[in-house]
Amino acid sequence: MLSQNIQNAINAQINAELWSAYLYLSMGMFCEDKGMPGVANWFRIQFKEEQAHAEIFMNYVNRRGGRVLLAPIDAVPVDGWNSLTELFEAVLAHEQKVTAMINDLYALAESEHDYATRDQLTWFVNEQVEEEENAQTLINKFRMIGTDGPGLYTLDRELAARVYNVPAPLQTAE
Ligand code: FEO
Repeated sequence: MLSQNIQNAINAQINAELWSAYLYLSMGMFCEDKGMPGVANWFRIQFKEEQAHAEIFMNYVNRRGGRVLLAPIDAVPVDGWNSLTELFEAVLAHEQKVTAMINDLYALAESEHDYATRDQLTWFVNEQVEEEENAQTLINKFRMIGTDGPGLYTLDRELAARVYNVPAPLQTAE
């Protein structure tokens, strides 16, 4: 059984994951509009990954006899990014915020001696290392080859190749 405190905190995290999904979908539509279908593909995959993160938390709450309560999703930015580098710097900054939220949740689980929740969060701790690394790697590439002309063409083709992989916790749940 989850404590009310933990349940509230996970429900807030579910909302944050769905907000992240919506944010990345918005960034993807921004890229479609700018004629960058490959970059848009990267964001569409990211949109699915964030939905999967929410689903992992929802499955966990249900398995522990808790109640998932879906709150409204706040509006997301729709434009204002002046370059691809700026766009992915916004992604990195957002992921750093999510990392801090996951760490807070982990600390809360530990303080309540809820080791099942803490162990569930270990997957997210590692996932956040990957999320931040992915954004940083792309920012480094943009700086190296530039995001105009041939550089942009190359990057767009590269990001078009990204495919969605069902995260491990959802594979075992099937
Ligand atoms: Fe759900 Fe991008 O972290």
